Amino acid sequence: MSNQAPGVRIDGLTVVYKTPAGELPAVRGVTLTLEPGSITGIVGESGSGKSTLALSLLNAVQPPGRIAGGSVEIDGLGDVVGLRGEELRKARGKHIGYVFQAAQNSLNPLKTVGKQLLDLGRSHGVDDLRGLVREAKELLGRMGLDGARVLDSHQHELSGGMRQRVGIMLALVLNAHLVVLDEPTTALDMITQANILRIVREVHAERGLTTLVITHDIGVVAEVADRLAVMYGGRLVEQGPTREVLGAPRHPYTRGLIQAIPRLTGDIDEARALPGRPPTLVTVPKEGCVFRERCELRMDVCDTVDPEPVADGPRLVACHAVNSASASTTVATKEHA
Ligand SMILES: Nc1ncnc2c1ncn2[C@@H]1O[C@H](COP(=O)(O)OP(=O)(O)OP(=O)(O)O)[C@@H](O)[C@H]1O
Ligand SMILES: [Mg+2]
Repeated sequence: MSNQAPGVRIDGLTVVYKTPAGELPAVRGVTLTLEPGSITGIVGESGSGKSTLALSLLNAVQPPGRIAGGSVEIDGLGDVVGLRGEELRKARGKHIGYVFQAAQNSLNPLKTVGKQLLDLGRSHGVDDLRGLVREAKELLGRMGLDGARVLDSHQHELSGGMRQRVGIMLALVLNAHLVVLDEPTTALDMITQANILRIVREVHAERGLTTLVITHDIGVVAEVADRLAVMYGGRLVEQGPTREVLGAPRHPYTRGLIQAIPRLTGDIDEARALPGRPPTLVTVPKEGCVFRERCELRMDVCDTVDPEPVADGPRLVACHAVNSASASTTVATKEHA
């Protein structure tokens, strides 16, 4: 892989988990492009399939899950869905830096952070281990930690927030040009969270990365992402430039998400939770629109036909009501012309 920010093209990705009710999709027919050099945010409620999608970028979905269809083309690596064994191990870490969700719990309890850093370096054939340690200290320092002390510490000596920053350091330290951060700031207070997001943005710009940030917190993506994709029930229901999507959400689910956040609506009285609950693998509708049970705009067609994403400039929305309304305005405008 070159030293350039890679582009990523996810096409028709479907990932299933084996359950007592058979194999059920957690991600279904997802198509998403990460433009080289961009920060893309994926947002959605718990269980919408965000982590499953993130793991697919590393071909790291574990049994009882498997990628059942589609492709994930990463510039310089090809379709990672076809990568196996050693090729895959090398791609992870060196080409794709990642922070798994709950990274604060994924350190080895028996080894110091520094020892784990050296293991990581060795396993990826890094010759200059001193340089690697220097780099790690510098990244930790930027995130407000005493690098030398953290490298000398075991997991139990660090707070959840400190471990989360160690996770981010480990994702960045090998200089991968594609970085995937799954809930990178959940264990952090608001101020630390804002600082970490600033650093993610800075490092992203300095190194020319392609970055994917996964979060249930729309405030996080609002601060960091250029482009935003909204997931519900394993489907991507809306995507577009972050400002446009947040400023003028089109999908009823995106609207509901935004209205539920007082920080964004600016008025706590106007904030109201989206009624109902997100579906599970078992309750998600097998046909028709996945969101219809909670939707204000539900029409008959929503019960039987799953809406395809329809593009309008840089924006995509998968909603019968929104797309038929905009189609009829287009037709009406044409008729008047
Ligand atoms: N190992 C597994 N076995 C069975 N089902 C699973 C497994 N892992 C995830 N799932 C199911 O797949 C769906 C998507 O899960 P996923 O973890 O990708 O969602 P998420 O959007 O990351 O949620 P969260 O915000 O809670 O992290 C959920 O319904 C979840 O219960
Ligand atoms: Mg998750």
